Amino acid sequence: MILVTGATGHLGNAAIQSLLEKGVPANEITALVRDENKATNLKDRGVQIKIGNYNDYHSLKDALHGVDKLFLISSNDVTADTLLQHKNVINAAKENGVQHIVYISQEIKDDEITAIPFVIQIHRATAEYIKETGVVYTIFNDSLYADSIGKFSGETFLENGIFFPAGDGKVPFVPRTDIGEAAAVVLTTPGHDHMTYAITANTAYSFEDISVMLSAITGKEVKYLKPDLDTYSHALINAGVPKEVVGFLGAFATAIKNGEFDTNRSHLEILLGRKPMELKEFLKITYGK
Ligand SMILES: NC(=O)c1ccc[n+]([C@@H]2O[C@H](COP(=O)([O-])OP(=O)(O)OC[C@H]3O[C@@H](n4cnc5c(N)ncnc54)[C@H](OP(=O)(O)O)[C@@H]3O)[C@@H](O)[C@H]2O)c1
Repeated sequence: MILVTGATGHLGNAAIQSLLEKGVPANEITALVRDENKATNLKDRGVQIKIGNYNDYHSLKDALHGVDKLFLISSNDVTADTLLQHKNVINAAKENGVQHIVYISQEIKDDEITAIPFVIQIHRATAEYIKETGVVYTIFNDSLYADSIGKFSGETFLENGIFFPAGDGKVPFVPRTDIGEAAAVVLTTPGHDHMTYAITANTAYSFEDISVMLSAITGKEVKYLKPDLDTYSHALINAGVPKEVVGFLGAFATAIKNGEFDTNRSHLEILLGRKPMELKEFLKITYGK
């Protein structure tokens, strides 16, 4: 039995979709969800549903009963103690004799020099905690999701330009569907024990490059406005965006600007057995008519 957490989210859903496409019977996949009503598409396909919350160890212990492999998707709850949440899942897995944990983490150049230590520290501490359990693990160090480009760029970026202070920094953006497929490969084939994989696209692109691609795709000029961090932060605060969110987005922009994601490491093509989706293709599917 394979249990996927965050199954009502994008990556969890993509991983389950890929597991089904690879021929894993639906009744051998369990979706861990907080809200059953959000899981009707999974239930209709015969996927097992277990209710569980990262904050509630007992719900996780029940949900992980009988599970062989766990795909642990990191928590996105910025208000919670996410390390504690991850530990709850890992403890429940160990308690139930889970044999393999696949964990979603973050790929950057240097953990010691980063504008996003609040993200990196949680991921590295979680990975260490998994290693200490002695359970077989595979760590996915993901690049930034191609799906995040829209969120970074501002609400009206297609009309008014990309407003994000990432300078000329480049990122090998990766679509969540490719990550889900790579996770399904790891969960269904041998040879991934105690491995840490860089899950990144083959080519890194800047927001300037993205603006050129989007202009060609939409047939309208999509400018990259390239504000500095102060201008960006003031504009967002004046627009009523909460201070914490502004700080979070600004930190990611700074990390991109500093080239932190441009690591030149990738195992994705090897795992997929094909080239990862090109960013141009992703943008065409997402923003083309
Ligand atoms: N590398 C990147 O660029 C990047 C970007 C964004 C996020 N991330 C990380 O990657 C993860 C997956 O991304 P995504 O796009 O699939 O995110 P998503 O669509 O927001 O899904 C997150 C999932 O986590 C579940 N969840 C949140 N808090 C939980 C809790 N306390 N207990 C149990 N489940 C909980 C959510 O449940 P509900 O459906 O009930 O809300 C949802 O299913 C995120 O959680 C975040 O850590 C990485």
